[in-house]
Amino acid sequence: MTGSYPNTRLRRTRATGWSRALHRETVLTPADLIWPLFVTSGTGVEEPIATLPGVSRWSVDGIVARAKEAVDLGIPVVALFPNTPRELRSDDGAEAHNPDNLMCQAIRAIKDACGDSIGVLTDVALDPYTSHGQDGLVNDAGYVVNDATVAMLVDQAVNQANAGADIIAPSDMMDGRIHAIRMALEMNGHPNVQIMSYAAKYASAFYGPFRDAVGSGGLLKGDKKAYQMDPANADEAMREVALDIAEGADSVMVKPGLAYLDIIYRVKQRFDVPVFAYQVSGEYAMIEAAQAAGIGDRDALVLEKLIAFKRAGCSGILTYHAAHVARLLNG
Ligand code: PBG
Repeated sequence: MTGSYPNTRLRRTRATGWSRALHRETVLTPADLIWPLFVTSGTGVEEPIATLPGVSRWSVDGIVARAKEAVDLGIPVVALFPNTPRELRSDDGAEAHNPDNLMCQAIRAIKDACGDSIGVLTDVALDPYTSHGQDGLVNDAGYVVNDATVAMLVDQAVNQANAGADIIAPSDMMDGRIHAIRMALEMNGHPNVQIMSYAAKYASAFYGPFRDAVGSGGLLKGDKKAYQMDPANADEAMREVALDIAEGADSVMVKPGLAYLDIIYRVKQRFDVPVFAYQVSGEYAMIEAAQAAGIGDRDALVLEKLIAFKRAGCSGILTYHAAHVARLLNG
C-alpha cells in the first residue's frame, strides 16, 4: 500500500547509501553465476576468440586452472563447450559418443582436481561435432530429424555422465529428449545427475560469437528455425517448460537472456521451478563493444543486467563475465 505525499516520500529510503543497502530487494552473489568455458585440444594452449574479446579457448590443463579459479571465486558451476577438431566432425556427430572426446577429458580432469567443490554442467547437442553445424541429424531435405537425433543425444548425455558430469544441459530443442535422457540416466546408474533443460531457447541472432568459439559458425548453412523457437512467441515457451518439467528436468533455462526477461518472469510465476538465464555470446560481445567504443562502463552495465535477471526471478545466470563479476562482487 502506498500513501500520499508528503506522508509518503519514496525518496526518504533512497537518500543514503546505508538505507539503499537496507532496502535492496534483490542481491547478486558469485554463487548465482555459471561460467561457460571453451575447450580445445593440446596442452598449454590458449586461443583468444576474436568475436568474444577477453574469452579464450583453453586446453584441458587450462580448463582445470579456470575451474580452480572458479572455486576460489565462489562460482559454483562451470559449463563446458568443446571446439572439436575439424577432422573429427562428421555428418552424424559420432565424436559426441567417444568416451575420450575433449568434453569427457575436460570433465574428468576437473572432477579429479576439484571433486565436489565445483559442479560441471555439460551441453548436450550435436553442433560442436557435426560437419554441418546443425544440432542434430539432417535428412536429404535438410531437415533436422527429431527422434533419431534424440537417440544420439541420449548416448551423448550418458557418455558425459559416465565421465562425471553433474548437470546435463540439453540445448538442442528436440521434442521428447528430456524424458529419454532422464530414463537413460536412471538406467545407467546416474540417479543424482541433474538435467537443466534449455527449455525456451530461441532462434536468435545473438549466438554468432559462440558459433565461432566452437568452430561451427563457418560450417552452418541456413538457420535453426525448424527447432529453436520463434522470438515472437511466449505462450509456446510456457508449453515447452511444462513439458520439460513433466519429463524430468530439475531446472529450466531461458536463452538468450535480456531480450527474454518477460519469459523468465512468466516461467517463474507460473511454475515455481529454478529458472536460469543464459546471457549469451552476443550479449557479452555487445557489452565489450560498448566499453571499447567509450559509450558505456563495462562493470556497471554487467552488474545492472545481471541484477535484472535476479529481479525477474532467476536462480542464476550463465555469463562469460562470471569470473570478472565474481571478482567485482568479492571486492
Ligand atoms: C548449441 C548451443 C548454442 C549456444 C549454446 N549451445 C548455439 C546455437 O544454438 O547455435 C549459444 C550460446 C551463446 O551464444 O553464448 N546447441
